Amino acid sequence: MTGRAEDDAISGLLYPNHKQFGVLVWILAVVHLGLRWQYRSQLPAMAETLTPWEKRLSLGVHRLLVALTLITPLLGFGMSSSLPDGDGVPFFLIAKLPEILPKSDTAFLVFQALHKYSAYLMLACIVLHVAGALKHRLQDRGGETDVLQRMF
Ligand code: HEM
Ligand code: HEM
Repeated sequence: MTGRAEDDAISGLLYPNHKQFGVLVWILAVVHLGLRWQYRSQLPAMAETLTPWEKRLSLGVHRLLVALTLITPLLGFGMSSSLPDGDGVPFFLIAKLPEILPKSDTAFLVFQALHKYSAYLMLACIVLHVAGALKHRLQDRGGETDVLQRMF
């Protein structure tokens, strides 16, 4: 999206959808956190068969994923709403979300950089997270260590 030179119909499709699906990710992350809090006493404990470093790493990556799915869209929203001649943030049937931040080139540049780092850090966490799930399925094979089956 950002690598496209032209400001044409395709960009006109990519940017608003990037924004509205990003806002949707944020809403789902808030709902996830709310449900997690409500059912906190019923959550299963970590698989006992994981080694201590696997437990620490997976917990750390889960916490980072939760934090980044909340922070990244907010930074994107901050960027879009502080851009002086920005075209706003659509959200499906709601035409435009309110732009709550004052317009400022400096704020835009700061949000732009933070949004980018936050998104790439999230991507690195997703790669680690999926690699972990695959390792437990393909290498450890079966039993409690195969955490993928806990999803169902
Ligand atoms: C989980 C949600 C999101 C992810 C993973 C994400 C990820 C990204 C990434 C990887 C880029 C390209 C950065 C670069 O290489 O320059 C980007 C750009 C952008 N994002 Fe997001 N984003 C999310 C949510 C949002 C939201 C909610 C908004 C606005 C409401 C938004 C607005 C933008 C804009 C305007 C750009 C273009 C920046 C530029 O032109 O340099 N993003 N986003
Ligand atoms: C192919 C893709 C994915 C697979 C196979 C996968 C697999 C899993 C598994 C097996 C668990 C449960 C671990 C356990 O029981 O201890 C889990 C939890 C989790 N996953 Fe994923 N995942 C994927 C994608 C993602 C993505 C894209 C995100 C976020 C950006 C994510 C965020 C999380 C979080 C936050 C938890 C912890 C949930 C909690 O404790 O409430 N996952 N994932």
